[in-house]
Amino acid sequence: MKSDKIPPIRDVFSSKIGVIAAAAGSAVGLGNIWKFPYITGVYGGAAFLFVYLGFIALIGLPIMLSEFMIGRKSRSNVFGAFKNLAPNSPWKYVGLLGVAAAVMILSFYGVIAGWSIDYIVKSITDSFAAKSPGELESMFFQFIERPILPVFYQLFFMLMTMAIVIVGIKDGIEKYAKILMPLLIVIIIVLDIRAVTLDGAKEGLNFLFHPDFSKLTADGVLSALGHAFFSLSLGMGTLITYGSYIGNQNNLAKTALQVTVADTLIAILAGIAIFPAVFAFGIEPDKGAGLVFITLPNVFQQMPGGFFFSILFFLLLTVAALTSSISILEVVVAYFREELKIKRNLATILATVMISIVGIFCSLSMGLFKEQTLFGLNFFDLLDWISANMLLPLGGLFISLFIGWYWGRKRVEEELAKGSKLSRGLISAFIFVLKFIAPGAIAIVFFNGLGVF
Ligand code: PHE
Repeated sequence: MKSDKIPPIRDVFSSKIGVIAAAAGSAVGLGNIWKFPYITGVYGGAAFLFVYLGFIALIGLPIMLSEFMIGRKSRSNVFGAFKNLAPNSPWKYVGLLGVAAAVMILSFYGVIAGWSIDYIVKSITDSFAAKSPGELESMFFQFIERPILPVFYQLFFMLMTMAIVIVGIKDGIEKYAKILMPLLIVIIIVLDIRAVTLDGAKEGLNFLFHPDFSKLTADGVLSALGHAFFSLSLGMGTLITYGSYIGNQNNLAKTALQVTVADTLIAILAGIAIFPAVFAFGIEPDKGAGLVFITLPNVFQQMPGGFFFSILFFLLLTVAALTSSISILEVVVAYFREELKIKRNLATILATVMISIVGIFCSLSMGLFKEQTLFGLNFFDLLDWISANMLLPLGGLFISLFIGWYWGRKRVEEELAKGSKLSRGLISAFIFVLKFIAPGAIAIVFFNGLGVF
């Protein structure tokens, strides 16, 4: 479908379902299945979940809609978007922040995706069979601390990401996202059923759903905010970049709502698969980044067909990671191509190489360089923390200020009138949130989390 005023070199998503599949494909990934359970465990469970849900609804959803609007209106990469919409102003540097965040995130994202690939191999070779929870745990740590194999899988994953981006937006992204994500949801639901019927499952459900707000720390609240951005792919221009490929007939508000709901549901479903099992197998919920990889093999052992489910699960997890990683790489590639005028293929290769090199250090910081830390964090955790808890919320802050104050109501109404029918009341609420609530909340949580108050 062609939309008006699109420069001929830019692709447009071919269908409504393609838009949702691609945006949801970006949002749903390791953030939902690996990171959400692990940080929920670290920050004490239900209270963290509820704060996270609050941020998703109050801040995430409006900012997602804002990013779509900025992208579609400007038809440009994240840097160019601000440059087009706010010429001769410093707004464009928000775009640079986004490109930096993309580089950092994809560096460590590729490492975790590499772990998932290793777990496909481990599943195929039946390596989890007859292992105790303790043995499964040492198996995980032995693997991630190795110097070569995790790097090999990480680079393999980066190559796949690069290949898909080189093929181009329509053929590459839409095709993969559409078929495989629903299958992943089915597998997670099967896992949920097994997990909640384990002996001792109840304690896990309590942990996930019965909040004890006294457990919340300023750092936990900032992480909940950071993860709301991370999980929804917000704050660095991913959805500005994707929005630039969305046609004018698309109902952006509805798309944003659908993507937000789907992403959040999948995270909760993943939590329901993990925490009952964590408690049933006597694993510590605050185990950290290995939580999913240590816990789920125990569950696969205890279910009929576990051998196949395990292969399928890690395969689909890798695919979910791919549909996210391509969206992250696309931010950098679109910037290289449109701002630095580098040809698409070369831009893609350059960005991939650059990110992979940083990624190798992330991987090595699990073993070889474990002792090299800053603020008590290894290189991997440092990149994760800076990008998710600092750069994305800052990006979100600027995006909300941009739409709320710089763009203002008239332009918002104009843009939303294309394809959407929001009532005046809803639009007022939307603007109010972007003007005051989102920037205020982000600023407070941010500075509080950094210990400024
Ligand atoms: N949202 C993705 C996930 O949950 C990760 C991501 C972050 C993608 C930021 C794009 C931008 O896995």
